[in-house]
Amino acid sequence: MKALQAAIDRAGQDPERPVYHFRPPAQWMNDPNGTIYYRGWHHLFYQLNPFGAEWNHMHWGHARSRDLVNWEHLPIALGPSKEKGEEHVFSGGAVPGPDGRPRLFYTSIGRRDPEQWMAIPEDEELVRWRKYEHNPVLTLAAHGGVRVAEWRDPFLFAAGGTTYMVCGGNLRERGGAAAVQLYEAADAELTRWRYRGVVFEYRNQDVYNFECPNLFPLDGKWVLLVSPHRPCEYFIGSLDLERARFEPAAQGTLDAGDAYASNISRDANGRVILWLWGRTRTDPGKGWNGVMVLPRILRIGEDGYLRQMPAPEFTQLRGPEVHFSAATLGAAPLVLSPKLAGDTLDIEARFDLGSARRVGLRLRCPSGKGSGAAGVAVTYDTGGYLSAGAARVFLGRGAQVTLRVLLDKRVLEVYANDGERALFTALEARPDNRGVEAFAEGGQARLIDLTGWPMRPARFSLERFRP
Ligand code: FRU
Repeated sequence: MKALQAAIDRAGQDPERPVYHFRPPAQWMNDPNGTIYYRGWHHLFYQLNPFGAEWNHMHWGHARSRDLVNWEHLPIALGPSKEKGEEHVFSGGAVPGPDGRPRLFYTSIGRRDPEQWMAIPEDEELVRWRKYEHNPVLTLAAHGGVRVAEWRDPFLFAAGGTTYMVCGGNLRERGGAAAVQLYEAADAELTRWRYRGVVFEYRNQDVYNFECPNLFPLDGKWVLLVSPHRPCEYFIGSLDLERARFEPAAQGTLDAGDAYASNISRDANGRVILWLWGRTRTDPGKGWNGVMVLPRILRIGEDGYLRQMPAPEFTQLRGPEVHFSAATLGAAPLVLSPKLAGDTLDIEARFDLGSARRVGLRLRCPSGKGSGAAGVAVTYDTGGYLSAGAARVFLGRGAQVTLRVLLDKRVLEVYANDGERALFTALEARPDNRGVEAFAEGGQARLIDLTGWPMRPARFSLERFRP
């Protein structure tokens, strides 16, 4: 807690630190962990290095929010039990225990092999946690003759009155056998687990391992999310719990940008919320590194593929609306600043490609000049590709595209065609570059309409941070 405290001032001085994406008080963060909605609060735990702004010394940071936007930082929930040989508290999940209060499960790293450990809350507010006295609750021995490598990242779900766990890993370190293992709770206390088998194996030679698998029901189907050491993928299909088999029927990229290591929660209205780590690659001297991608609401589209849009709660941060009506985009960019300018923006825009090869928006341009290449571009092209900075994904060919763009200092998120594709990316810009332009290349396009809002910072309270 002391080391983290000391970095708070430094992180606060960086003008490029995002202001409405969730971030820890300071220092390094990666994966969202144990995301759960409990008694009116969204609880978010996350991989935290309290000692520095680079990956190491994994702890579970903790925060809670009533609205997914404004947060109270809470004391660090879990740290390594050095006296038990534990070096890192790796990623994991949460699920209600027999008393209705959440239990946390995570991968304990330090001994020869990874182990799955459990933690129990000591108070109704879930602020203080103790590790179960007879940890581990699961070891590699559970698999009998099945050899699982890189075994980690428990994710929990309940179905038909039984609590299940899945873990990531692989069955062959040479590649081509990334796999998800399924377990079933054998007691109400969730301290004993029975191995049910390999619920899914990915026969893809380019993928050697799965991290952070999430398996959950959505709109009448089952969804599997995996983090395969490259952009996260999703599978939509059916789950046969009797045979312990997940059968995918559709597949896609979750986010082709810098988002990784998903987790899932479900709120009081049954909305399924996706959490992702947003990698920022910040210079560690800045006292912070990493944010949480804006929580996304998931649904399955009529075509059977996933849709993801940022939680509508974020519109509460919008400042005065700025509207632009239809305009032709030709050789020179349409400069939207200073009417619409800044480094924290929410923009909704619709384009028609016309005869152009590429259309899009340029953000964080030197203000007021039709700047051409400077700034970071969000584009859609005749090949059907969507891009945001260096991130690029195939969206599908069409005459028109609808974009929602959320800029927050040095991070950018783009959602195309009402959540058919999503991209999170980090960017580099000079703090005084706040201009916005719309542009077309290789012909004439049409900006059908555009509405933008400056975004206010979210609140991050430190009042409850000290234990
Ligand atoms: C994913 C991951 C997990 C692991 C954690 C460690 O980013 O590598 O597999 O539990 O990060 O911080």
